[in-house]
Amino acid sequence: MRNVTRIALVDPLDSTRSALKTMMLGIESVWLEAECSRYEFFIDVVKQSLPDVALISLDSNPQKGIELVARIVQEIPTCRVLVLSSSQEGSLILQAIRSGAREFLSQPLHLEDFLAALDRLNQAGSGRPGEVTESRSCQVITIGGASGGVGCTSLAINLGCCLAQTPGRSVAVIDLDLALGDADVWLDIIPDYTIQDVADNISRLDYSLLKRSLTKHECGAFLLPRPVEMDERTPITPDELRRVIQLLKATFTHLVIDVSKSYTPLDLAAMDASDHVLLVTQLDLPCLRNAVRLTQFFDRHEGLGNKVKIVINRQGLEDNQISVSKALETLGREIFATIPNDYGTMVEARNNGVPLLTQAPRAKLTRAVQQLASQFEVRSESSEERPDDKRARRSLFSFLGSGK
Ligand SMILES: Nc1ncnc2c1ncn2[C@@H]1O[C@H](COP(=O)(O)OP(=O)(O)OP(=O)(O)O)[C@@H](O)[C@H]1O
Ligand SMILES: [Mg+2]
Repeated sequence: MRNVTRIALVDPLDSTRSALKTMMLGIESVWLEAECSRYEFFIDVVKQSLPDVALISLDSNPQKGIELVARIVQEIPTCRVLVLSSSQEGSLILQAIRSGAREFLSQPLHLEDFLAALDRLNQAGSGRPGEVTESRSCQVITIGGASGGVGCTSLAINLGCCLAQTPGRSVAVIDLDLALGDADVWLDIIPDYTIQDVADNISRLDYSLLKRSLTKHECGAFLLPRPVEMDERTPITPDELRRVIQLLKATFTHLVIDVSKSYTPLDLAAMDASDHVLLVTQLDLPCLRNAVRLTQFFDRHEGLGNKVKIVINRQGLEDNQISVSKALETLGREIFATIPNDYGTMVEARNNGVPLLTQAPRAKLTRAVQQLASQFEVRSESSEERPDDKRARRSLFSFLGSGK
């Protein structure tokens, strides 16, 4: 069970309260425990419902709102307080923070800002002694290649399918090879919507289209494909991609992103938003030379170099083989995973539009991909499920996940 944050909300303004409520209903990791339209009553609401987070909108009466922050922090120390205001006045921000608010959010509240604030709260914990800090519950894995045709899409799809086998996991594969991506072919999916539709609608926050944009494969993984038509326009900007990833992170336990080999700003934005970047290479000279060049390039990007993990694909391929130890020496990095060469099995899986798990569950190749997947366990979450959590099993994508 993924962590659910129980929230109580106070906002005397009907229109903004209703917008906030709608937003929260769309987030799987959030349970709106209580809502209140009067500051005076909120303290009792919080005492009764004991939420993890109290969200206080200051706009209708900032002074009353700030007093409420201080009372909640004092009287219900287990509850963390977030405030929300359309004013960005320094003195108001200062008062809110001095009263004990953990975050000062801007109204209108953007979903990604809200998710990021909750993420920070969860990572920081309540600060109470002895509390185990909750960990994030979605891992983002980007797969890049040292050369064309090294096996990125094969590995992205099959990694996604292996990850989706474990109950409780939900996996989405994003095809970010916008010009020539072929992830849909690997899963034999004819998608109705693509990343283009998501990008167009994310700016209008049209949740229902976002839901329908992902196609579920019978192995359990969802796919967000590349645009159907090639266009000179950039179908999605790095900022839009970051928003898409942020939204998907609220719902899925794993995102696997298959990037292009051009290492465009969009590809780099995906890598920035990732927890792991797998650099797939084969054991031949041109690939290894590119791998060295790429790792140097990644090292120059803040925060990127240490996410990079080398995956050797098609080990055992006869042409131009360089030994793993020589590769290690050349790259100056550990090898994270090694996938054996088995062209027959891989091509048959692709031609049948099924994952390796279906095509050849016992093949060495399949076992190697399973082994790779096992390295991306979801980081530990609260092991005890509260009775309330059962109610919280609703989500933006829940109707899609039900058939798994
Ligand atoms: N471990 C493997 N053993 C044998 N063949 C493999 C292996 N992995 C991938 N292949 C084969 O290599 C070819 C290229 O794979 P894939 O399309 O996944 O590479 P890619 O890096 O995504 O290519 P592109 O640069 O076109 O995006 C395919 O024919 C695939 O079947
Ligand atoms: Mg590919």
